Amino acid sequence: MLPAMRPLVVLGSVNADLYVEIDRLPVPGETLPGGAAAVRPGGKGANQAAAAARLGCPVRFVGQVGSDPFAGDLRAALAGAGVDTQALATVSGPTGQAFILLQRGGENSIIIVGGANRAWEAPPAGFAAILAGAGALLLQREVPEPVNLAAARAARAAGIPVVLDAGGDDGPLPAELLPLLTVVSPNESELARLTGMPTGTHGEVLAAARTLQAGGCGTVLVKLGARGCLLVGREVLAQDAFRVPVVDTTGAGDCFTGAYTAALIGGLPEQERMRRACAAAALCVQGKGALPSMPDSTTVAAFLASRGG
Ligand code: RIB
Repeated sequence: MLPAMRPLVVLGSVNADLYVEIDRLPVPGETLPGGAAAVRPGGKGANQAAAAARLGCPVRFVGQVGSDPFAGDLRAALAGAGVDTQALATVSGPTGQAFILLQRGGENSIIIVGGANRAWEAPPAGFAAILAGAGALLLQREVPEPVNLAAARAARAAGIPVVLDAGGDDGPLPAELLPLLTVVSPNESELARLTGMPTGTHGEVLAAARTLQAGGCGTVLVKLGARGCLLVGREVLAQDAFRVPVVDTTGAGDCFTGAYTAALIGGLPEQERMRRACAAAALCVQGKGALPSMPDSTTVAAFLASRGG
């Protein structure tokens, strides 16, 4: 799919996703029967790493699992997707977990228990060597902010572009992080929380993205779900989503960001990065689970061909 590429370094979370399928959310005090239950690999960092790797981008993952039975399966899932896990550390205590209530129609509600993802204060020793030769560093917000900040500083010092998926923690972004970012990618609700601005209309999304941009990051790439995405950089570009049947939206945003960053490293034109990211996300939502639903490059190419090239 893409010419020989420099590696992507993904620093972030890895979770055991504990799913239960439900008809609707319970109200306070109510007990409801659940449908199928399953444990699947996930976590925003792991999902994004797997998405890029499945699309043919070499990926080095930097993160932490705990010392429990989830850890081995998660390490194997990442490796199975083609991700280099040499920098995935094992620490004492629980692995990160996400409790996912999957509702009819594919929407979800998630509660995160951070576990090992929260048990570090800085990137690991040797992070500079892990970054060496990288085409980009990809971050999310499910690890402590000081870890992200130090990683972004190291990447920028080495001249490596930094992409931040704004998913995870809810608080404002540290002012010193924004100027280190080449691309920040929030969804509409994350953009609203980050800026304190409404994002209900196209004009409002644009204005909020411009506000983030004014904070110093180069490009804001807004994920608009079923409406595609909007990029606000030196120019403003839009990409429609592909209409598909939705089974499970968990990890679709991660799939989008991982695919976009792989295409960035691959040197594809901006509009084509956005189109491939939307195509990958459209495939992701058709399967259950986050990491297991990341499509490979052959599947994305066939999908795009079926939609007119
Ligand atoms: O973005 C989806 C992910 O969010 C899930 O895999 C879950 O682990 C949570 O981190």
